[in-house]
Amino acid sequence: MWDRIYGWLDGRFDLDDGSEFLGKAFPAEDSFLLGEVALFTFFVLVLTGVFLGFFFEPSTTEVTYEGSVAQYQGQDLPAAFVSVLHITYDIPYGMFLRRMHHWAAHFFVASIGLHLLRVFFTGAYRNPRELNWIVGGLLAVLAIFAAYTGYSLPFDEFASTATGIGYSIAKSVPVFGDVLSKIVFGGQYPSSATVPRFYFLHVFAIPVAIMGLIGVHMAILIRQKHTEAPRSDDVAGELTIDRGDDTYVVGLPAFPNQTAVSVVVFFLTLASVSLLAGFLPVHNVAEYGPNDPASTPGLIMPDWFLMWVFGFLKLMPSWTSFTVPFTDIHVSTEFLSGIVLPGIVFGAMFLWPFIDYREEPTHFTVDPMRRPWQTAVGVAGVTFIMVASLAGMNNILAEVVHTPTGTINTILLASVLLYPLVAGGITYVVLRGNDSAAGPGREEAAADGGSSVAADDPPVNEETDSPQGGRSDDARGGGPDD
Ligand code: HEM
Repeated sequence: MWDRIYGWLDGRFDLDDGSEFLGKAFPAEDSFLLGEVALFTFFVLVLTGVFLGFFFEPSTTEVTYEGSVAQYQGQDLPAAFVSVLHITYDIPYGMFLRRMHHWAAHFFVASIGLHLLRVFFTGAYRNPRELNWIVGGLLAVLAIFAAYTGYSLPFDEFASTATGIGYSIAKSVPVFGDVLSKIVFGGQYPSSATVPRFYFLHVFAIPVAIMGLIGVHMAILIRQKHTEAPRSDDVAGELTIDRGDDTYVVGLPAFPNQTAVSVVVFFLTLASVSLLAGFLPVHNVAEYGPNDPASTPGLIMPDWFLMWVFGFLKLMPSWTSFTVPFTDIHVSTEFLSGIVLPGIVFGAMFLWPFIDYREEPTHFTVDPMRRPWQTAVGVAGVTFIMVASLAGMNNILAEVVHTPTGTINTILLASVLLYPLVAGGITYVVLRGNDSAAGPGREEAAADGGSSVAADDPPVNEETDSPQGGRSDDARGGGPDD
């Protein structure tokens, strides 16, 4: 009977073709699982978000609170705030699923960041994967906007004030600031128009864009196949798949092996998020209270992944603002630090594959220890973001080291300019010696009287007498995913 069912389905869906696809190999490389973690946390976000969506009220209209939190009993409070109190304290599993949504959001952004760094440091963005790097970059930007719009929804005092920084930044855009802030925030922030707008962006517009881009990201990945680590001629000793034509791919068949690994990664991701949700509380709305335009909380802070932008806002010296001569167009420090600098950071990220450009397509990763200047730029970039993030916490830092904030700011400003140069410089000097070293994974070798030999020029696999066990351009039909 199964044969007949299979025959029936095969006649319609060409299952034999499919099973050939399922036999394709994935590179057996742990860091390649970071992209999957990002994918799985996105599933968790959508599922827990749907649950929260059943109960959240995207409105600031005042309603009378009747629930488990004694201090607000009988008070008229914004509906959004009240609904988050209900989710947290009255709806079965509400607190747990709200916490899961929160921690999954942090996992999502963190795994995207780590995945980006993996792709960067192993040079996996190079020709022909530039476009997938750009699609990935757009996903990173959207993930940050998804988190930002979600942060504001409970309409509590802390979140509204912190997300209000975004309003001031939007308003600071010369010429278009007013229109932009009206379109995105619905006028004054926070106003009754902001929550419904952010709700629409958070639960529909941004997730749909993320889903679409993940689809494009995966389609490009399947078409171009993974990069894989360059290897020498000891392939036979590793976990290999004989492609049946005397060539080998180091990796796992998509089905059942890689699928089993992915299932384990999925459950590990789910378990980690659940563990955090079970033990670590999140954003305590009951303690912060509803948004109160008349007061400002003592401590205002964005989420950690926006801390670097907050750092720019704190460090930008006031003398950098100016009015464009012969116009009344004012370029404020807020615009420079909230839009121009992050724009430069993301712009550099998007342009990077064209800065470190290769004419020839390359299908192998590179050992970061063997590509001095690219790794140095990466280390400098990471240091820059980390010091800028520290600057976002300047007041806490000032308190901890008992130093006036002004002094701390001067030190941080010098650090944000100097440390990346120092860290990048040291990395370059340390790795420079590796540049000329031979062996798989080298970026360039000083052979050929100075002409460069690409790392991706596959070392010949003596056993199979084919380059990299069959992974060469003419084996594109048979890359690691085959
Ligand atoms: C929602 C966010 C993202 C998801 C779900 C995602 C998912 C994935 C997955 C599952 C893979 C294959 C496994 C791996 O190589 O890790 C992959 C590969 C890749 N991703 Fe992403 N990614 C995201 C964001 C990004 C970002 C921010 C970048 C860079 C700016 C990026 C650039 C790439 C590139 C170039 C590849 C191919 C790497 C190779 O062939 O070795 N992705 N992505």
